[in-house]
Amino acid sequence: MLVSASLLRRTHPVVCRSSAPVSLLYLARRQWYSSSTTGFEFKDKEVVVDGVKYPKDEWTNVTPTVLSKLDRKLHLQPRNPICIIRHLIESHFNGYKCFNNLSPIVTTQQNFDDLLIPADHPSRTKSDNYYFNKDTVLRAHTSAHQLEGLRSGADKFLISGDVYRRDEIDASHFPVFHQMEGLVYFDNDPAKIAAQVQADIESNALNSNNIKLVDDTVIKPSNPIQERHMEETVKPVAAHLKHSINSMIRTLFADEPNLEVRWIDAYFPFTSPSWEVEIYYKGEWLEVLGCGVVQQALMDKAGLHNKIGWAFGMGLERLAMVLFGIPDIRLFWSQDERFVNQFTPGQIQKFQPFSKYPPCIKDISFWLPENTWNENNFCEVIRGVAGDLVENVKIIDDFTHPKTKRRSLCYRILYRSMDRSVTNEEINEIQENVRTSVQKEFSVELR
Ligand code: PHE
Repeated sequence: MLVSASLLRRTHPVVCRSSAPVSLLYLARRQWYSSSTTGFEFKDKEVVVDGVKYPKDEWTNVTPTVLSKLDRKLHLQPRNPICIIRHLIESHFNGYKCFNNLSPIVTTQQNFDDLLIPADHPSRTKSDNYYFNKDTVLRAHTSAHQLEGLRSGADKFLISGDVYRRDEIDASHFPVFHQMEGLVYFDNDPAKIAAQVQADIESNALNSNNIKLVDDTVIKPSNPIQERHMEETVKPVAAHLKHSINSMIRTLFADEPNLEVRWIDAYFPFTSPSWEVEIYYKGEWLEVLGCGVVQQALMDKAGLHNKIGWAFGMGLERLAMVLFGIPDIRLFWSQDERFVNQFTPGQIQKFQPFSKYPPCIKDISFWLPENTWNENNFCEVIRGVAGDLVENVKIIDDFTHPKTKRRSLCYRILYRSMDRSVTNEEINEIQENVRTSVQKEFSVELR
């Protein structure tokens, strides 16, 4: 899964989901974590965050590692590239109301139901999200606040914050990243919309030519105009959306030579028509945002029956990695002075690499009790034990015994700290704990 917007695009259940629930055995110890602003405690029957109690149930799968990120708020740290980018985008979208302090602990109503995401949609699974319990989750996207934003009375707004998704582990995936949501709505009057759109487009001409922009998307039955909308209103709304995003990209990437950007059709339950924007970088197309015309049922929930709007949701790490040339997503979290002191508020500067601390590599192999296997759950157990010391987990062997049909997997785990040298003894101990936890969680037979 990609860092930015892909979670909700999936329309088909993902195969290979393990049926074994993650019972979080490794959290059984009672622990108290406190930090400057966020304290949390895992008790037998509840998880407590800043004094608020969340009763545990069979959905609970938040971990100390992930909760320890709640108070970092990289989008609010002035010298962090995530915050620098947020500021640059906010200044581009002049006049938009900005929400930057909404709590990442939301209800499943906010994260899913408000956005018309069906009850059986695969994006709700435990293996993709961090649940406190069946009703409370760490937001998986800033769209969880669309309705709140619509109800705030602002007709154009931006919402930035940390979002949480269980995922694989490598240089571009981290269980926490940052998104910015943008939403604008208009009076549902075609002539008025067209005039306003024209004025906005003229005041913000696309005049840089370092960017090759390809958009051959057309409105068609597979990516349709909503039944309640008229073509003559949707067309200028879509034009405004596309112009707003293209001009934002041009502003951000003004100094980037030869950038290629393309629009493709997409699907989200809360917009139609919907699109994604991708940027070609180092030989691959990176998805940077999802967007579309807001479903009218959502506008209705906010009492805005006679308005029509567009929305986008964008991953900030992706943009920052391209703009600042940052090679590893974990670097954003580094407290190493060689990272922290490199950046200046308001400026995009290329990252000056400094020597990394040496890695320590360990393999783990095991026989599965059955042939299904869920890699996200496996990675989460490793993260639970090793925290941020784990940089990369990659499968190096997947073997099914020809006679017994038993399946054996071998994974290579790369441990490295961003701020210090790790010792082999320390990693051996962690690896031993990883082995024990993996064995307990998944009933595998270690080899
Ligand atoms: N919230 C979506 C995601 O993270 C992105 C999105 C936002 C799409 C707003 C459309 C409109 O996958």
